[in-house]
Amino acid sequence: MNAILVASNRGPVSFTLAEDGSLSMRRGGGGLVSGLSEVAKDLNVLWVCAALSDGDRGAVRLAPGGRLDQAGYDTGALRMLDIPPATFHRAYNAVANSTLWFVHHLLYDTPNMPHFDARFRREWESYRTYNEAFAMALAEEAAHGARVMVQDYHLSLVPAMLRGERPDLRVAHFSHTPWAPPEYFTLLPDDVGTELLEGILGADHAGFLTARWAGAFIDCCETVLGAQVDRRSRTVTHAGRTTRIGVHSLGVDGEALWTRASEPDVESHMAALRDQVGDRMLIVRIDRTELSKNIVRGLAAYREFLATHPEWHGRVVHLAFAYPSRHDLPEYREYTAAVQRSAKEIEDEYGTEDWDPLILNVNDDYPRSLAAYRLADVLLVNPIRDGMNLVAKEGPILSPRSALILSREAGAAAELGEHALTVNPYDVSATASALFEGLLMSEGERVRRGTLLAAAATALPPHLWFADQLAALK
Ligand code: G6P
Repeated sequence: MNAILVASNRGPVSFTLAEDGSLSMRRGGGGLVSGLSEVAKDLNVLWVCAALSDGDRGAVRLAPGGRLDQAGYDTGALRMLDIPPATFHRAYNAVANSTLWFVHHLLYDTPNMPHFDARFRREWESYRTYNEAFAMALAEEAAHGARVMVQDYHLSLVPAMLRGERPDLRVAHFSHTPWAPPEYFTLLPDDVGTELLEGILGADHAGFLTARWAGAFIDCCETVLGAQVDRRSRTVTHAGRTTRIGVHSLGVDGEALWTRASEPDVESHMAALRDQVGDRMLIVRIDRTELSKNIVRGLAAYREFLATHPEWHGRVVHLAFAYPSRHDLPEYREYTAAVQRSAKEIEDEYGTEDWDPLILNVNDDYPRSLAAYRLADVLLVNPIRDGMNLVAKEGPILSPRSALILSREAGAAAELGEHALTVNPYDVSATASALFEGLLMSEGERVRRGTLLAAAATALPPHLWFADQLAALK
């Protein structure tokens, strides 16, 4: 029985099944996992996550009670849930990623507005079943009075379900995404919106990354549920219970990041990149190939910059990392193709025999991306909307001499905006001008701003961020 538990869809590790049937383990990706992994090990937290692939399912089936640590893996206390693939697919791909992610990131556009029909109802039913599987596993594993930290939009229904099973527990929910304003949230069918909000309000404490997202959640509770809200003390009272709403901005453990970024594999990537780029200035971006990250407009801005500033031809290189993500969804496959088309257009239009204006990396290569951070002169972070964005925080820590261009729609802008060059992510021309400004900024000014950015980025590292929420449950 455990005193502190974490639940999230993606766990700290994933497994790959080789042709000879052997399993290899690797660290999971994404902001949530990088924030929580070390903290969970240090505090002896039991982590409950879903099996995401055949490799994961293979590993779980060999582990007693789904406990991978008890099967001899170095994962920290970890229970993986083997949810039937069809249920998982509907819950994760159809509801969580194609619907809730789209709602919170305002990703629908007019020809592609959602269509909530009988099929969606079946998918929603699977989302419930998947949430129930988590609630039941947590109810089984939690000691009396334990604290349970439920993560993200995949698991919105878990807090209320868990409260039904185990009223002795203290439950927190944390949203790593933005939260949609009521006029957009109410695109969802009324009963679905109600169930989501009531699901989260089953928690004692509901956490968000910024005051803006917390405020939007409170607004939705008032508009959709008619809940009684107090914006000053940040509480929501509904159906006889009060939930406290907290703002916990997630930062980076600067020391751990530096330790990793100083290892020999990163150093050798740095040497290779220096050879490739020479003494040219370097503009870097690092993202999952994710619609909300706005990579295509970022590339369009670089193209416009090259068109309006021929004096920079041959003197600058844009190194863009766009890692594969969520390829089960057609929107993501199309977006990946659009990124590659945009990149090719730039290469065809401006590339010469001795100058590659753009280097696009489409494979997940963590050490190479750390090397890129360290060499960057300008870091471009231009999401349409983002819960926080840890790239904007990691960059200044590893290279305080790089200028940060930051979308005002990223949660990180609340803390970093003052020292960054902030842009409206839809304004390609303004982003092109910011690239120019960043390249022209004196090294002294970049270092002055970068030092302030790095200080803000490390203000609430994951262990403090987590401790803050645990304390809120006392
Ligand atoms: C965001 C979400 C996380 C998610 C990550 C990667 O950071 O907040 O919950 O794990 O993206 O997405 P994926 O669908 O690959 O888990």
